[in-house]
Amino acid sequence: MKIFLDSAHIEDVKKAYDMGAISGVTTNPTIISREGEKFEDLLNQITEIMTDGPVFAEVLAIESEGMIAEGMDLWNKYKDKNIVIKIPAIPEGLKAVKALSANGVRVCVTVVYSAVQALLAANAGAMYVAPFVGRMDDIGENGLNLAAEIREIFDAQGIETQIIAASVRHPVHVAELAKMGVDIATMPFKVIMQMATNPNTARAVDGFLKDWEKVPK
Ligand code: E4P
Repeated sequence: MKIFLDSAHIEDVKKAYDMGAISGVTTNPTIISREGEKFEDLLNQITEIMTDGPVFAEVLAIESEGMIAEGMDLWNKYKDKNIVIKIPAIPEGLKAVKALSANGVRVCVTVVYSAVQALLAANAGAMYVAPFVGRMDDIGENGLNLAAEIREIFDAQGIETQIIAASVRHPVHVAELAKMGVDIATMPFKVIMQMATNPNTARAVDGFLKDWEKVPK
């Protein structure tokens, strides 16, 4: 399972990329709003770092014509930089997915809260679908079950659309998503660091250094 960074914080993008931890970067309007910089300035910086994987950017329009116009504009500016256009899983979004994908645009259908939304998105031409695992948990549903149900349906139907589990909150989510064969999980930098860090490993390394002091020099 590939790991993507869910952030537009340039220092974190660089750190995660340099660690070899990530194969792509996802953003959404909330993530962009945290950085206090213009959208396209951030996209330019992220795509400069993430040179060998996709960078996801979301449209703001909520009717299909606006989504198509924004999606085409971003695509024309960034298609050589491996951009993926995120479209929300609403009926108007499906129209946009159909039109954009027919024009060769790589599309991710985002804000997916049910398996049938994912099925419709795949049928409309989405390259990726993004179930919101953590936000499902937040409302008392089981986000991991949603990801597993989409995996089961896509496998049963031979659907090649990739599942990118989003709204991932902790390392247990990541391990469970990997076991069920989800293609990608996107997560904040904090979760990547939680995965990369283990106090027992740190203690053992510290012990090796202390013992090395006893070796005659
Ligand atoms: C993907 O880019 C999603 O928008 C994102 O993972 C949502 O995460 P959140 O629920 O932590 O806001």
